[in-house]
Amino acid sequence: MKIYFAPLEGVTTYIFRNAFSEIYGHVDKYFAPFISPAENCPLTPRERKDIAPENNIGIYLVPQILTCRSEHFIDAAKELSSMGYSEINLNLGCPSGTVCAKGKGAGFLQDRSSLQSFLDDIYSYAESCGMKISVKTRLGYREPEEFYELMEIFNLFPLSELIVHPRIRTDFYKGDIRKEYFAYALENAKCPLVYNGNIYSTQDYENFSRSFGIHLDPIMLGRGLVSDPDLAEKLKSTFEKEASSLTIETDFLKLRKFHDTLYHQYQKVLSPDINVLHKMRELWTYWQMLFDGKERDIKHLMKAKKYEDYEAIVYPLLQAEERST
Ligand SMILES: Cc1cc2nc3c(=O)[nH]c(=O)nc-3n(C[C@H](O)[C@H](O)[C@H](O)COP(=O)(O)O)c2cc1C
Repeated sequence: MKIYFAPLEGVTTYIFRNAFSEIYGHVDKYFAPFISPAENCPLTPRERKDIAPENNIGIYLVPQILTCRSEHFIDAAKELSSMGYSEINLNLGCPSGTVCAKGKGAGFLQDRSSLQSFLDDIYSYAESCGMKISVKTRLGYREPEEFYELMEIFNLFPLSELIVHPRIRTDFYKGDIRKEYFAYALENAKCPLVYNGNIYSTQDYENFSRSFGIHLDPIMLGRGLVSDPDLAEKLKSTFEKEASSLTIETDFLKLRKFHDTLYHQYQKVLSPDINVLHKMRELWTYWQMLFDGKERDIKHLMKAKKYEDYEAIVYPLLQAEERST
């Protein structure tokens, strides 16, 4: 079973990916949050730092590009190729207003004739240099029925993988997964298909797999894997052919190590202190799922403005869970 870590801008940074792969692992591919190339600027210094091979040692990383201009995509792809990357992902899912207004991300799904000629250009380039390009998409911009035409377009090109988040742009990340359209993709896609969306537990994986009548593999996990960093191991130990009968429980000692690594690494690269605390707060919006009944503590730590206040709440909280497991 292959598990991919979804790109989450602001969350799955190179610091996060390094800490995750060292402490948890069990992820086969990490997708980097998008880079957004511009005229004569394929990568900003910040984007370059995030995907620099020396900052991602031992991690199988797939950089992602967000653009609707094939010349910008190809410029960035050449740069990525010179850094050693031979697999790149195209973002056709970002629902943000500013991104879609520029016809990028999910916004690009509206203009299907431009999308087709864009894909024509980038896959001709890919073929000329042996680059693999995968696509991460939603079902459509306004209506899920747009997916039928999109599928026909995708099937014209040699996508290395098609990752589908079965929602439309206006769903953002909420609401029910539109399962019938992923089932359509399973029947009609000519390339390898990857499911992405709302898997937070082994039970969720089992339910989605059952409703599609197959063992979903590969899968891409986003919020579920940030919320429960043990989820990849839990899934593999439950559903792989050679799975052990051991049930993996959330390991709070590991979570403490993960927390401390991120907290100390962010202190080295971010300032002032409040920016480090903002980063940690964002992570706690995911981790709070693991701390049932501790809502008051979580609420307080979200308000901490100094390291000492933050630590005075976080360490007793983590230690209490370590003791009870
Ligand atoms: C905070 C945040 C940032 C995201 N950034 C990206 C991104 O840079 N590129 C991308 O393709 N998707 C991005 N996504 C979408 C996720 O990769 C994923 O498709 C989505 O969260 C659904 O999967 P999940 O239910 O497993 O989280 C982002 C989602 C969130 C919540």
